[in-house]
Amino acid sequence: MNTRYGDKNPALGALYGSHLETVTARHDHALEQAGASHAVIYSGNPKLAFLDDYHHPFKANPHFVSWAPLITLPFSYIVYTPGETPVLIYYQPHDYWHVVPGSPDGYWASHFDIRVVHSTDEIAAHLPANREKCIAIGEFDDEALAFGIERINPNTAINILHFSRGVKTEYELAVMRLAAERGALGHIAAEAAFRDGRSEFDIHRAYCKAVSHTDPELPYGNIIAINDHGAVLHYTDLDRKAPESIRSFLIDAGAQVHGYASDITRTYSNGDQRFQELIERMDAMELAIVDKVQAGLDYRELHVGTHKMLAEVLVDAELASGNPDTLLETGVTTAFFPHGLGHLLGIQVHDVGGHQENESGTIIDPPSGHPFLRLTRVLKEDMVLTIEPGMYVIDMLLENLRGTAAEGHVNWDTVDWLRPFGGIRIEDDIRVMANGQENLTRDAFRRVS
Ligand code: GLY
Ligand code: MN
Ligand code: MN
Repeated sequence: MNTRYGDKNPALGALYGSHLETVTARHDHALEQAGASHAVIYSGNPKLAFLDDYHHPFKANPHFVSWAPLITLPFSYIVYTPGETPVLIYYQPHDYWHVVPGSPDGYWASHFDIRVVHSTDEIAAHLPANREKCIAIGEFDDEALAFGIERINPNTAINILHFSRGVKTEYELAVMRLAAERGALGHIAAEAAFRDGRSEFDIHRAYCKAVSHTDPELPYGNIIAINDHGAVLHYTDLDRKAPESIRSFLIDAGAQVHGYASDITRTYSNGDQRFQELIERMDAMELAIVDKVQAGLDYRELHVGTHKMLAEVLVDAELASGNPDTLLETGVTTAFFPHGLGHLLGIQVHDVGGHQENESGTIIDPPSGHPFLRLTRVLKEDMVLTIEPGMYVIDMLLENLRGTAAEGHVNWDTVDWLRPFGGIRIEDDIRVMANGQENLTRDAFRRVS
């Protein structure tokens, strides 16, 4: 497992050099536009809990991770000067309380001029002497760690880097295929635990074991929802005991490889045929949406088009009546499907730049009535995004339809039938191609099944 997902994997090593060329070219451009000569990218530092001497889990600066798969290396810096080998200031403290980072090793190491330092006092000597020509990229809650660099995260540079990160390199695609595979292994183990009648907590543990992640290593908190918990969009409570009557299971869980995430959702019925048929209908709808993905498509249109498709499913399932346009206009589809169709995926689960029209940072707003849509861009080849339509009984939203034009379009008896099952979401991770798409998730399930 470790060889495949680790930083000795020769297949990833073969792609990494060209990834780094893309990353450096993006920084050349960002530095030029920002009028600076050096980028100093800080990995970040763990944060203490309030009034405590324990740290919150460390999450490295995603800009740092885009350079190298060093997701557990705090107090470290990449110094990039166009035309020169990037310098990696690698922090390896003398510390007998914790495990310290080992010697720099892996397919990435030969691409850097590595300077191992043992205390933060040694860092300044490795930074460019003229701090005025530097920009710093990262989170600095202690100004001293910026070592006198005053231009921190300038928008000119950050907008360019965020916008360009929407398109993945071959290396990133390879890493994300592995993250999809790792997530698929977890989903298979979780489904087996669910079929075995286990609690949410136990299913979660089965998932973590299969992907070999501790909780902080997961790209986001697992959503492991039995029965009506599936209607809570970000349910993360993990009941310790299985309910008496187990009807349904919604699992939204991912995995990561070298800091790149997968984000996968599946829904299962525990024997109820009507709910099973509704899942199959939603699955077919999800695949039909995925099938439309290709370069040049406006993701906003795909999102609104999904509402029309969902309207048909609602009518067929006797949850609603009326024509699709009416169900959209009266807010019926939004009450059943109140989140966005998906988002960019990468180092961050909800990856940056989803609303950016261009590298100068012009924003494309979500369509009116759909404020939660995280991706509004026109799709480009090699973007990776999620497609995750859903349908839930969320009483707080459905009750808002009472007394409006929508009320008569909802079949409240069928809503009562669906409520104990919670809801359905199917989510795949998709790579955009010139004339179609690659379904990272379905391919991964096929490989590991
Ligand atoms: N798991 C969070 C999401 O699907 O966006
Ligand atoms: Mn998800
Ligand atoms: Mn998602």
